[in-house]
Amino acid sequence: MTDSAAHYGFATRAIHAGQDPDPTTGSVIVPIHATSTYAQDGVGGMRGGYEYSRTGNPTRTALEECLAALEGGRHARAFSSGMGATDAALRSMCRPGDHIVIPNDAYGGTFRLIDKVLSQWGVEHTPVALSDVDAVRAAVRPNTKVIWVETPTNPLLNIADIALLAEVAHSAGAVLVVDNTFASPYLQSPLELGADVVLHSTTKYIGGHSDVIGGALVTSSDELDAQFGFLQNGAGAVPGPFDAWLTLRGIKTLELRMEKHSDNAELVVQALLKHPKIKTVFYPGLPEHPGHEVAAKQMRRFGGMISFTVEGGEEEALRVCARTKLFTLAESLGGVESLIEHPGRMTHASTAGSLLQVPDDLVRISVGIESGHDLVADLAAALD
Ligand SMILES: Cc1ncc(COP(=O)(O)O)c(C=O)c1O
Repeated sequence: MTDSAAHYGFATRAIHAGQDPDPTTGSVIVPIHATSTYAQDGVGGMRGGYEYSRTGNPTRTALEECLAALEGGRHARAFSSGMGATDAALRSMCRPGDHIVIPNDAYGGTFRLIDKVLSQWGVEHTPVALSDVDAVRAAVRPNTKVIWVETPTNPLLNIADIALLAEVAHSAGAVLVVDNTFASPYLQSPLELGADVVLHSTTKYIGGHSDVIGGALVTSSDELDAQFGFLQNGAGAVPGPFDAWLTLRGIKTLELRMEKHSDNAELVVQALLKHPKIKTVFYPGLPEHPGHEVAAKQMRRFGGMISFTVEGGEEEALRVCARTKLFTLAESLGGVESLIEHPGRMTHASTAGSLLQVPDDLVRISVGIESGHDLVADLAAALD
């Protein structure tokens, strides 16, 4: 894909951006460049700009070009995990004495990094309900450098208005970062809505097959990208070439998968709503969801993540998690197979006792792309 990728549809970009046939062999699929270093034709005579694989690797470059094209950004940097990307982003943008506004139901690992690590380097943070724009405005201080957004949030599926928050951030001279992991670039384009940086745990929908850990930062700012690139190389949280290749392979079917995840989630939501043991269903596609209007404005569809609370408290929530057969009890999300988990005891255990603690009767499911009626039957059997 030599001309500007922006002219092409999403699926075309997913399959071709950064992935022209290999110029030396014609290999249609990007090769796995399993090398740590590159021969130089005389000192400094690098072929294609590659000198050492922490700094750059052609398989990683292909992934980065594809990710940039999918998010409509000028630059992308791939990392060894979503947390590696988060760490690089925050340490690029914040210095001791700076302040970050974070979601009051942020992903537990993001919260832990900010609360337990960055705080020791003098970076302050304020958790806020990002659905309340006035509360975000009130939390911004003169030293606020970053507003960190997740939408939909993990695990409560709250929705933040990206365009409005971009205005708040920019009028305060801060950077708006959107963790787009739950939506994927197919369902939501934060850069188009005014965000400065998009973060992904590519472990999730982008990779899509639960077989690789990775992260990414996408931006159209040359300055931010240079800072991210400096830490990508300087701190070294880079993906290996096989990880980059697996992620690229997953990306090719992202559009198809997101459509099917959304179809299946809609079926499951309707079934849960009818079940007497269900107290609340959290899904932004529901008209009664408080963030539905904003979600409908900024998302193409509503994705495959659903959370729900059950009658009978934590004991019943744990029982349901233990009883499904197709929904595997496991952390993570976004793969082709359906997963179920108890956020309070699993992914979000690190938020216990903090403002970000999640309800103990909450169950989170990642609805896969199996036959939808089988998933509905599996959940019904576990709840009965
Ligand atoms: C929304 C969100 N952001 C970031 C991460 C961290 O990504 P990783 O596990 O790839 O380090 C996760 C992981 O679950 C996540 O759900």
